Order: sequence, then C-alpha cells, then structure tokens
Amino acid sequence: MPSKVSCLYLLTVVCWASALWYLSVSRPSTSYVGQVAIPIKPKAGKNGTFTNIRTRSLNPHDFDYLINEEKKCEAEPPYLVILISTTHKEFDARQAIRETWGDESSLPDMRVVTLFLLGRSTDGVLNQMVEQESQIFHDIVVEDFIDSYHNLTLKTLMGMRWVATFCSKAQYVLKTDSDIFVNMENLVFNLLKPTTKPRRRYFTGYVINGGPIRDMRSKWYMGRDLYPDSKYPPFCSGTGYVFSADVAELIYQTSLHTRLLHLEDVYVGVCLRKLGIHPFQNSGFNHWKMAYSLCRYRRVVTVHQISPRRCTAYGTT
Ligand SMILES: *[C@@H]1O[C@H](CO)[C@@H](O)[C@H](O)[C@H]1NC(C)=O
Ligand SMILES: *[C@@H]1O[C@H](CO)[C@@H](O)[C@H](O)[C@H]1NC(C)=O
Repeated sequence: MPSKVSCLYLLTVVCWASALWYLSVSRPSTSYVGQVAIPIKPKAGKNGTFTNIRTRSLNPHDFDYLINEEKKCEAEPPYLVILISTTHKEFDARQAIRETWGDESSLPDMRVVTLFLLGRSTDGVLNQMVEQESQIFHDIVVEDFIDSYHNLTLKTLMGMRWVATFCSKAQYVLKTDSDIFVNMENLVFNLLKPTTKPRRRYFTGYVINGGPIRDMRSKWYMGRDLYPDSKYPPFCSGTGYVFSADVAELIYQTSLHTRLLHLEDVYVGVCLRKLGIHPFQNSGFNHWKMAYSLCRYRRVVTVHQISPRRCTAYGTT
C-alpha cells in the first residue's frame, strides 16, 4: 500500500513538473501565447466584460452646470484662476472678497479670474438669490449636486473640471475658501513669480503628513471601510493651495477612477499620489487661525478665519 501511494505521488509530481516545463518552454510559441492571451486581452472595441470594467467610472462627475461662466477665459487666458469654495448664504463674504483680494483688477497688468463654486441648495429661495447675484457679478458657477459639507470634494472636483474645460490655458490656480484672506501680492510676485518659467505638475500649500482620525465624533472622521491605511499621502490643507493649471485636468481625470472621500484635501492628496506629483511645503500658507495683525499678514499668502468686516477694513487701509 505505502509503495502504491508514493508511486501515485511521484507520478503526480512528475506530471506537474512536465506540465510546468512544457508551459515555460512553449511560452515563446506564438500560437500558445495567443490562446492564453484571449481572455486577458479583450477584442478591441467590443463590449466585453473587461472593456466595461476598464472604462466604467468609479466616480463619474457628470453633473450639469446650473450656472456657468464658460466665456470667462475666452478673450485672454488668465495668469491666475481663483476658485473659492462657498455656500449659498455667504453673500457678505463673497462681496467682501470681490471688493478686496478677489478683485480681478487688483493687480496691474495681471489677468486674474475669480470664481465662486457652489452646488445646488435644497432651499429654492437661496438658489434664486444666488442666480440674481450671478447675473450682477458673473463670477459664480453652480453644478447640479446637493451643496453640503459632505459634498465638498465634489465642489473641488467641479473647480478642477471647470479649469480643464473652460480655462485650460491659464497659468496657475488658487483654490481656497470664503473665510480665507489671501495676500495677492505675495502669492503672485513672491511665490509664483510671473517672470520665471511657468511650472508644470506644480502643487503647493500647507502640506500635512497625517493619518485618518477614527473617532466618529471628529469633523475629520474617516472610516476604515473607506480608507483602511493608517497614513494619508502628503496633502495640502484645503484652506488654500496653488497649482499649475495642467494639474486641474490631471486631478479631474484621476478622480473619475478614484473612490470619493468626503475630506476634499485628503482626496486631492490621494489623486496627487496616483499622479506621482509631490506637494511642496510653503510656509506662507497658514493652516491655523492667526491673530489679526497687519504686520504678520504682510508675510503670508493665505490666512484663515477672517470675517467680511475685517477683510474690508484691510482692503481700505
Ligand atoms: C456595444 O454597446 C453599444 C451600446 O450599448 C451598442 O450600440 C453596440 O451595438 C454594442 N456593440 C457590440 C459589438 O456589441
Ligand atoms: C451629494 O450630492 C449628490 C448629488 O446631488 C446627492 O445625491 C448626495 O445626497 C449628496 N450627499 C450629501 C451627503 O449631501
């Protein structure tokens, strides 16, 4: 009996060995490879399952524009596009920005385009008010998704998509929030420097190297199911970051195949890692609240938490 078993065992081993040998030897043979390759390589253009898996979008950002300013960049490509994430009720904040740092004509000989990004409010009256505001100022873009804190990432992607579609010849993009003060002179002349060669695949801001917060009470809670890793890729704080305009299209395209995360700055970091773009640390971008002080403001690019009144006060001094 034992000899029979071991004989069978030996036979099996020999069988497997010769099968493996045959596979390795016959690999260069085109006919064999051709057969093996069939299920892996879908026939070009056919509606095979593989084609569907490859082309199906994880995150198809196909929202309609409810309000658009598609001609903003038509006449002359701007040096800088400012994208400001805002909510419907922030009428005062938007006005303060228009009158101060977001003023498109504040820098001589420098074309700047300022746009406020919004989703659709569940309150019809607010939508109408924004519509009227848009007819006066023509600086608002609205996409048809529900405007909510959890949809902030969609708002950022909408900005990326807008730049890629309607303003791809712009040089740089600043993405920020409506409660941020931006020192435009510093940003343009000290950081971007219009006289230097335009950068490509450039991304800078206040870089954070962190990991997910698993405490469900936190504003920045991230579930293990959504993001299992214990570390995030380096990302720029969402309060303000600047990038060369080519990155807008790259991030938008990458996002179509990248599972959405509700933390927009982390999500942009995930897309950047996929693209192999490393965000530069820049000390001018302030992540945390800063006591109001003109002297300090002179050195910074962005500062958090400015109320519209303070912003106006700064603009008029
Ligand atoms: C592929 O799908 C499209 C639309 O779903 C259909 O019109 C077309 O006939 C399909 N082609 C093949 C080869 O099945
Ligand atoms: C985000 O927007 C989508 C599209 O309008 C909507 O279906 C979804 O409920 C929104 N999510 C949140 C958390 O508001």
